Amino acid sequence: MNYAHITGWGSYLPEQILTNEDIARTIDTTDAWIRQRTGIGQRRIAASRDTTTGLALQAALRALAVAGLPAADVELIIVATSTPDYMFPSTACQVQGHLNATRAGAFDLSAACSGFVYALHMATQAVATGSVSNALVIGAEMMSRVLDWQDRETCVLFGDGAGAVVLQGSSRPGGVLTSKLRSDGLQSDILCLSAANSNPIPALSSENGHARPVQNTISMNGRRVFRFATRVLVESVQDILAMANLTLDDISLIVPHQANFRILESAAKQLGVSPELFYTNLEDTGNTSAASIPVALCKAVEDGRIHSGDHLILVGFGGGLTWAYALVEWQKDVASIYIPATYHAAAFARA
Ligand code: COA
Repeated sequence: MNYAHITGWGSYLPEQILTNEDIARTIDTTDAWIRQRTGIGQRRIAASRDTTTGLALQAALRALAVAGLPAADVELIIVATSTPDYMFPSTACQVQGHLNATRAGAFDLSAACSGFVYALHMATQAVATGSVSNALVIGAEMMSRVLDWQDRETCVLFGDGAGAVVLQGSSRPGGVLTSKLRSDGLQSDILCLSAANSNPIPALSSENGHARPVQNTISMNGRRVFRFATRVLVESVQDILAMANLTLDDISLIVPHQANFRILESAAKQLGVSPELFYTNLEDTGNTSAASIPVALCKAVEDGRIHSGDHLILVGFGGGLTWAYALVEWQKDVASIYIPATYHAAAFARA
């Protein structure tokens, strides 16, 4: 079995900033309310010409550059997204085409805000078994296109962006050490985004505490999602520590899905740790769904919060309902031991 190391990382956020004050000029809300209830101050909004593929591609190019991995050597591309440009071709296939990654298989993965950790888990399995020697794992979202901008409970929460990591196999211990995927479809009605051809889930109605049924825009029961998120965040951290036989003292940083600062504060309190252990950048980005964890991871590296040898926990949670978690041993210098696929090909040819 190989270890799947994170050897490259990159993120891309659209230029346009939408502040809370900007939103407060169009609907009945205030900067103070949004900051106090969520911790969000602003978010990035894609331009009308932007595509999810374009955001994903920018993040991917940056991640490949950090890894020093030529696109021609990429063997697997997974894009986690709830806002693909098309149902098919997948976003991943379009990224593959733009990269000219001719050796890569490519597909999209749908697990809402847990999507990046789901994709990381799947790619890790492929790398660890030797099925592929590397993978490009991307979370990319254009949430601004699926919001009801009159619904003040949801439109203030989300933003656009993309983040990516490169996984590469190595016999050297480290990388994504363990991970788990979870789901609870019985609560699917509290956070939904209907597809173009669907009828809204019949159980949906604002009267009985479910989310509001609005076609093609996000509907959510905020209080129930809040309670779910806090519970699974705590349970995820406890479970992965048990799986790895570690304690919270061994963890340098938790990089959670960036949904709401109060969710993180509440989880930290229940775990008995400082909120500082949870990395946050949601004040500047809002909730970018599947992009939020890789975007936060890149920012944490940039901020000097992650060092070689650190143990990190990544936790995603969201629609489905889904949640997923991974334990990562960060090995910054592992890229230097990467052997390009072309080298393997040459060796094979000689044999
Ligand atoms: N601005 C001002 N007031 C708002 C508002 C806004 N943007 N959104 C809701 N309100 C109002 C409500 O209408 C309600 O008013 P009322 O008391 O007159 O009925 C009041 O604020 C309290 O609403 P409530 O829903 O209890 O607020 P809350 O403290 O639960 O915060 C959320 C609402 C959405 C911020 C919070 O529930 C949340 O973050 N939930 C999780 C959502 C999430 O993270 N989703 C994605 C998960 S991946």
